[in-house]
Amino acid sequence: MIPSKVIILEWRKSLELYDEAQKLFPGGVNSPARKLIPYPFYVKEATGPYIATVDGVKLIDYCMAFGALILGHRPYTVLNAIVRQLEKGWIYGMPYELEIEMARKIISHYPSIEMIRFVNSGTEATMNAIRLARAFTRRNKIIKFEGCYHGSHDYVLVKAGSGALTWSIPTSKGIPEDVIKNTIVLPYNDLESLEKTMRKHGDDVAAIIVEPVVVNAGLILPKDDFLEGIRELTKTYGSLLIFDEVATGYRLGLSGAQGYYNVIPDITTLGKIIGGGFPIGAFGAKREIMELVSPSGPVYNAGTFNAHPISMAAGLATIEELEKGYPYKIANNAAKVLTEVIEDSIRKYKINARVYRIGSMFQIFFVDKDVINYDVAKRSDTKKYYQFHLEALKRGIFLTPSQFETNFTSSAHTDEVLSKSIEALEEALRAIAG
Ligand SMILES: Cc1ncc(COP(=O)(O)O)c(C=O)c1O
Repeated sequence: MIPSKVIILEWRKSLELYDEAQKLFPGGVNSPARKLIPYPFYVKEATGPYIATVDGVKLIDYCMAFGALILGHRPYTVLNAIVRQLEKGWIYGMPYELEIEMARKIISHYPSIEMIRFVNSGTEATMNAIRLARAFTRRNKIIKFEGCYHGSHDYVLVKAGSGALTWSIPTSKGIPEDVIKNTIVLPYNDLESLEKTMRKHGDDVAAIIVEPVVVNAGLILPKDDFLEGIRELTKTYGSLLIFDEVATGYRLGLSGAQGYYNVIPDITTLGKIIGGGFPIGAFGAKREIMELVSPSGPVYNAGTFNAHPISMAAGLATIEELEKGYPYKIANNAAKVLTEVIEDSIRKYKINARVYRIGSMFQIFFVDKDVINYDVAKRSDTKKYYQFHLEALKRGIFLTPSQFETNFTSSAHTDEVLSKSIEALEEALRAIAG
């Protein structure tokens, strides 16, 4: 790894701040994914597709707050909605009308959801979804897949992707064996191993939780029959299927991955986009399942900040914009164009790599095999990824900072922004070739 003191990019103010931050925060950051190599740039402000840094650099952003933004930074419509809400107060500790409007909107798009609970993060959403599944089925075991990341709570931090994988702690310390003895971890895209496991443990499995498209081990797409196969097996054994759509929800279209693949889970978790850039999480399901949640039922969930008015206002404004269709058109086209450019360049410069895209998400792996699961993803040459990332950064392009994350485009990535990106990415790949 390159030591943080080497000023490769001459971002002196950022480096100064980072040195200070290292005294204050573990690893200098408040979330591992922000620990860029060699050191993070510090953001001054952000608009549309651009991030402006404290060093006076303007970057085109393809991280988009790890997928939380799909309309770019501070879109006007969302800004207006936030300001309107701020004028009416920003937290009440009591119910208010907007949360009903937001719930109705999401329910209208997600066939699996009849009732919903808004929480504050994707982590809270999956934690509660699993607790709910266990209570509903009166079973303890859950199945998750290698490389899928479902947030930073105990049940799921086993062979997890995202920052945990980036920093080589996919299975976190500090989690008692007892807590994870009920978490079975299987390879993604491998129905055979799932069938075998269900034959053995199916009657004890409360839920199978899956990222329908893995965005936290790089980008890994489900094989044709994988999601349907999981759906069938959960039905056969009376287990619940949890789609973790924290990243794919409203990203792959208004109905997320379940709409895209037409596979309907029992419980859906959402986050990121539904907060319009503000803290959010949600879990929803059919009424008979959700009625177990407190105070109507015995599964406890509560939160001072649940259904926060600013998150609701920003999220609803974002979804209303997405309903117009144009943001998906622009964002998907941007990802398509960039993927094609990367594919052309790796061919031209004879770089061993694979590129994947779905909708407005894409990622490159420096590996010579199809990336169908975590094992292959892990074989990618991460040094090469960081080189590529750095070369892109030098040319004004901020790609997602880890091999085990995904790039996101937005409706702010218009043709003009794309043409600057194309040239820079092509040059960055040429720089790392050979
Ligand atoms: C699929 C998935 N689930 C859960 C989470 C956790 O969400 P949060 O970071 O809001 O806790 C993430 C975050 O990246 C995610 O991508």
